[in-house]
This record gives sequence, structure tokens and C-alpha cells, in this order.
Amino acid sequence: MGPAAGSPALAPGVEALGTESAFSVLARARELERTGRDIVHLEIGEPDFPTPAHVSEAAFAAVRAGETHYCPSAGLPELREAAAVELSATRGIDVPAGRVLVGNGAKPLLFFTILATCGSGDEVVYPDPGFPIYESAIRWAGATPVPLPLHEAADFSFDPGELRERLSPRTSLVILNSPQNPTGGVAGAADLEAAAALIADTGAWILSDEVYSRMVYDAPHASIASVPGLLDRTVLLDGFSKTYAMTGWRCGYACVPEALVEPLNRFIVNSTSCVPPFVQHAGIAALRGPQDEVAAMLAEFRLRRDQVVAGLNALPGVSCRTPQGAFYAFPNVAGVPLGADELAARLLDEAGVAVLAGSAFGRAGTDHLRLSYAASREQLAEAVDRMGAFLAGL
Ligand SMILES: Cc1ncc(COP(=O)(O)O)c(C=O)c1O
Repeated sequence: MGPAAGSPALAPGVEALGTESAFSVLARARELERTGRDIVHLEIGEPDFPTPAHVSEAAFAAVRAGETHYCPSAGLPELREAAAVELSATRGIDVPAGRVLVGNGAKPLLFFTILATCGSGDEVVYPDPGFPIYESAIRWAGATPVPLPLHEAADFSFDPGELRERLSPRTSLVILNSPQNPTGGVAGAADLEAAAALIADTGAWILSDEVYSRMVYDAPHASIASVPGLLDRTVLLDGFSKTYAMTGWRCGYACVPEALVEPLNRFIVNSTSCVPPFVQHAGIAALRGPQDEVAAMLAEFRLRRDQVVAGLNALPGVSCRTPQGAFYAFPNVAGVPLGADELAARLLDEAGVAVLAGSAFGRAGTDHLRLSYAASREQLAEAVDRMGAFLAGL
């Protein structure tokens, strides 16, 4: 039965839009805090460090200088230039500034990329488990999601043979993400080269989500965009949120294929118009200024990673691989006598530890939890203690 005459209705496609459970769990945790409960927050994926002071100062100076109006939708030329220099140096390629677009975070750029390259009848290969917005946007675009499993036994890497099986003449886009949310896995250069050879034989675009590129603990960061010739079909996505503890500033950037510069810019014009220019000045300062705080954050994340992984592995029924990048641990909880969804819910309600159920990241995430270790070592120790007491009481 349709809506009653005169009552407003939602567009049918709205049903297809998913969400990010990190935001709903955060809301529930805040509700509990308002009732006086003490919650350890390991649900939200953002560095707990302040934005470096020189970055904030650059924005304040820009506001004082009157940089508070509309500006070019593709981004300030100086930021596009700085981002091109950064991407060229870190990926070993030649990125022209004219192919860099600046967005209100990496998220709109990935959403627009999916909307600009995928439609009804198309297939999109994407990591499972993976950042939930991929599947949500693929479905919104009317395309068919084709999950590519990541394998825990291989530290959450993908198998190039399984990628080959998933590519078809209808594949319009392949999404890769390394370092990875939610597993902390990283893709090795050899797997990326194998993937590049396979995708080069198809008509598919590539979206390489590298927003955690500076957060690698062992091997240097590898990018599919570094493989000769691949930049012409790859949206190489990076941003400020994670690297510079700037999640609330909403600024990201991408080097995009020549043929996508104008269409993606039109999405920006049609939606957000531009990133506030004073925010872009903060971005310029971040890229061009001292990088010592980035290095200090990474050193601290490494200590926390080692602490939380050791703590999790000491819990009954829990096993956790050592993540090689980002700031997430993705423990397997199949040995706990509760499903992971119920476990996550009860850890929040009964033990005061906010974590995410792995199923929110795709089918392959079942039996896992995601913990963000962007929290102090004291909070991490407290969380593991509380989890231990809860599991002992089952
Ligand atoms: C894999 C991945 N891509 C993109 C984003 C979005 O980042 P931004 O804050 O730049 O929009 C996130 C944020 O959690 C993420 O985990």
C-alpha cells in the first residue's frame, strides 16, 4: 500500500543507503554516559591527539585574513599543488596538480567516485570486511556489490586468484583499501602488482582508498597507483583526518584520472561547492610543515597496538593477529560462547566497553570485533581488564 494521499514519502533509493555503526554505537555509549556510566571508547576511528598547533594556527590566520568566502570547487591551487607534491613523493609517481581534487573529507570523494563510475547493471568489487560506506554507496548507485574476501590467516590480505574470479565484463570499479579499516591489514606490493595486471585487462576504474597511508608499522606503504600506467584509471584517495588528527576539519584530496576531473568536480559543485578556504590553509600547513607530530603519533600507536594485541590474545576464546597498519585491531571471538553481535552489545551495556561488531563491515567480519586503539594506554588496559572480567563471568 502506498502512502496516504497528501502524506510525504521517502524516495525508494533511501532504503539502499547503509550507515556506519561507529556513529550509532557512539550515540548509545554517550546515552549511557549521561546516566552516569563510565565507558571506555574504542568504537570511533579517530586519533585521540590534538590537531598539531601550527596547523590550527594557519587556519586562524586565514580566517583573520578574510579567507571566509567561496573558493574554487576543485580546491585552492596552492593546496592542489601541495597535495600533488605529497602524492608524487610518497607514491613515486608524477602527479600533476591539475588532477588533484580537494573534498570535504575523503568520504565525499569516494562517494562521488562511486556515483560517477557505477550504475545499474555494473558490478563493483570491494573488500570484505571493509569500510561500510563502500557497499552503501554501491547500492545507492544501483550497482551490484561483489565482495572480495580478506583472509585472516594471511593477515587480512586478499588473494589475487579470488580477485580474478570476481572480475567480469560488467566490473566498472574495483575498490582497494590499504592500510585497511577494519582489520589493520596492509596490501603487499606483490599482491598489488598482481591485481594491477588483472585489472589492466578489464574496463574497470580503481578506487584506492589510502587514507591510512602514513600509518604503517613495518613494510613501507605500497600503492597500486605506483604500478606504471595505473594512475590513468585510478582514483588515489588520501586525506588529513587520520594522518594529522583532523577528522573534524573535513578535508581530503585525491589524484583522479584526467577523464574524471571534470565530472567529479561537477559533483562537488552540485553538493558542497568547496572546502572552506581557511580549512584548506590548514591542509597546506599540514603538508608543508614539520612532520614530527605525525611520527610521534605513529610511535605511540605502535606501543598501543602491541599492548592491546597482547592483552586480547590473553583473553579466553579470543585471538588477534598483529595489525600492520592503521589503528584498528580485529580480534576473532569465535571461541567466546556468544555471537560477536551480542558480545559487542553486552560489552557496552554490561562492561562499559564500546567496540564494534565485525559483521557491520561485511559477512567476512562475522565472529570478530573491531577495536580502535586510538585511546590512551590506560584506557586500553582498562578495556582489556573489563573484557576479561566480563568473559570470566559468562
Ligand atoms: C577506509 C576509510 N576511508 C575513508 C574514511 C573517511 O575519512 P574522512 O574523514 O577523510 O572523510 C575513513 C574514515 O573512517 C576510512 O576508515
